[in-house]
Amino acid sequence: MRDFSDDEILAYLNGCNDNELFKLADKLCRAEFSDQVYLRAIVEFSNFCNKKCKYCGLRYPNSEITRYQLDDQVIIDVASLAASNGAGTIVLQSGDDFSYSAERIGEIVRNIKREHDVAVTLSVGDRGIDEYDHWFRCGADRCLIKLETTDPDFYKDIRCGESFAERLNLVKEVREIGYEVGSGIIVGLPGYTPESLLQDILFLTSLDLDMIAAGPFIPHPETPFYASPSDGLSMAYRVTSLLRILNQRSNIPATSALDSLMVDGRKIGLSRGCNVIMPSVTPNVNRADYNIYPGKNSVTLDGDNGVVEAKEMIRSLNLVPSVSKGYSNKKCVLKNLNIMNIH
Ligand code: 5AD
Ligand code: SF4
Repeated sequence: MRDFSDDEILAYLNGCNDNELFKLADKLCRAEFSDQVYLRAIVEFSNFCNKKCKYCGLRYPNSEITRYQLDDQVIIDVASLAASNGAGTIVLQSGDDFSYSAERIGEIVRNIKREHDVAVTLSVGDRGIDEYDHWFRCGADRCLIKLETTDPDFYKDIRCGESFAERLNLVKEVREIGYEVGSGIIVGLPGYTPESLLQDILFLTSLDLDMIAAGPFIPHPETPFYASPSDGLSMAYRVTSLLRILNQRSNIPATSALDSLMVDGRKIGLSRGCNVIMPSVTPNVNRADYNIYPGKNSVTLDGDNGVVEAKEMIRSLNLVPSVSKGYSNKKCVLKNLNIMNIH
């Protein structure tokens, strides 16, 4: 890990030397992952949500979207197609939709793991620790639990009264179960400053995460933040590059929101410290309804052929779509340490 002073990080956040920052992030990324890019295919299996986060189009007060829930067999079939096309990881993602019982999700995980040599990531929100424990025993490998901001008061505000401490506790508890854990923030939420992003970067780094995401904020017309500016793109690249420099071994995705704000946004991310692409493989009939923010899933890269197209995009950069499951390099080091301890 590099040692940067707070002032140095702030200077980079203020755009003082973007070229140097992006080049260093790319260099460290290539040193860690060579030319390999990991593919995580996302199955967005339900856009129902019992929460009302102020930034998100899936919030339950939004009556303007068509809600859908995929049948278990459809989820398994879509995951199978993505695995056959070369995705090493399947991400099962939804809003906070408790109508999928722990048993049901566990059975879906078991099915996918039985049929394919893939890792499974769960991105299903604030479920009980017993449920996460059950899914781990069914074969799930990773959890994605975003913090969105690391300021507890702001978290409470944008997540409508929820507790930051509880969310953070969930991050820690799932790690204790044995999951690889990913988290992250949205860059450019209303009221953000370079100083608040500095705190986010330092906090996320202190969590020693296996995966860290930092995508740009995009205002959704059916949310309380509809009129907020959408100026987080440059900042998202800077935050991502800084996260790479401070967390060389972590997996860092080029988020879909980059593509929603700019043509080839994800491609550029892959040359600025990102080593993961997460194409949506949600069935074409439902994809547009997973409308977390405008432009989500309207990009041509994703869809039934999302994995194939993502591979082409990676190759166009002279990089290599990895056939591996893309486990965390952090874990590898820890495993090696354990082995050394035993002998
Ligand atoms: N703009 C950008 N990203 C968003 N997310 C939710 N709403 C927005 C938005 N308006 C991100 C959150 C969430 C992920 C699925 O999408 O980080 O965890
Ligand atoms: Fe629901 Fe997640 Fe959107 Fe919040 S961010 S409203 S929990 S889908």
